[in-house]
Amino acid sequence: MILNVQNLSVTFRSKGGVVQPLKNICFSLDSGEILGLAGESGSGKSTIANALVGLVPWDPGGSYELFGEKVNPYKKKSFAFVRRKVQMAFQDPYSSLNPRNTIFEIVATPLLANGISGANAAEKTKKMLDLVGLASADLNKFPHAFSGGQRQRIGLARALVLEPKILICDEITSALDVSVQAQILHLLNDLRKELNLSMIFISHDVAVMEIIADKILRLK
Ligand SMILES: Nc1ncnc2c1ncn2[C@@H]1O[C@H](COP(=O)(O)OP(=O)(O)OP(=O)(O)O)[C@@H](O)[C@H]1O
Ligand SMILES: [Mg+2]
Repeated sequence: MILNVQNLSVTFRSKGGVVQPLKNICFSLDSGEILGLAGESGSGKSTIANALVGLVPWDPGGSYELFGEKVNPYKKKSFAFVRRKVQMAFQDPYSSLNPRNTIFEIVATPLLANGISGANAAEKTKKMLDLVGLASADLNKFPHAFSGGQRQRIGLARALVLEPKILICDEITSALDVSVQAQILHLLNDLRKELNLSMIFISHDVAVMEIIADKILRLK
């Protein structure tokens, strides 16, 4: 078991009132395993993803273990450790791809931010772009030159370039048409084998989830 979550609760407090989308959620993940997160809109799927990478705080009483280590990603002490192990890919990578940067620069950014530069960074970047099925001729193009499916590949390359152990995919196939969706699902399966990656796959689409997931957690 590489991830063990017990009693994850999240409460949002604002002027409008108090919402608790997650109450005592428990799940675990083995190495190479794909967990599907299903549930209607607003059931808290993205909130689970955000809680796992430290974008929202956990309510007291929960426990989060990553590779046997107790972590609290919202605290600075474990944030860097969690970020090395757990990365996210999003439904709309375009909105987070800087239009002024080439694909090569975009995918290399997490490496540079972590002190990896020069030939080493270039090699890792090229390898990752190759792994997600982008041609080396694409390296110097800008995001606008790519289709939705290709942008998802770029988003995946950027999420994976630091070699995380767990990839969270939040609705990454939801905006794609069916044939491109199938290609991305194939790619995820290949990446899982190639990189021994575990995944948390979030989707509205139960049919897609049943294809890809080893087990499914349904939120109400
Ligand atoms: N930062 C926030 N502040 C306040 N409320 C929030 C915040 N983020 C999410 N919520 C609320 O928490 C609930 C769960 O939202 P969440 O985005 O996790 O749902 P979801 O299952 O991902 O939905 P969808 O399928 O539409 O993406 C919703 O009621 C939402 O309004
Ligand atoms: Mg969501």
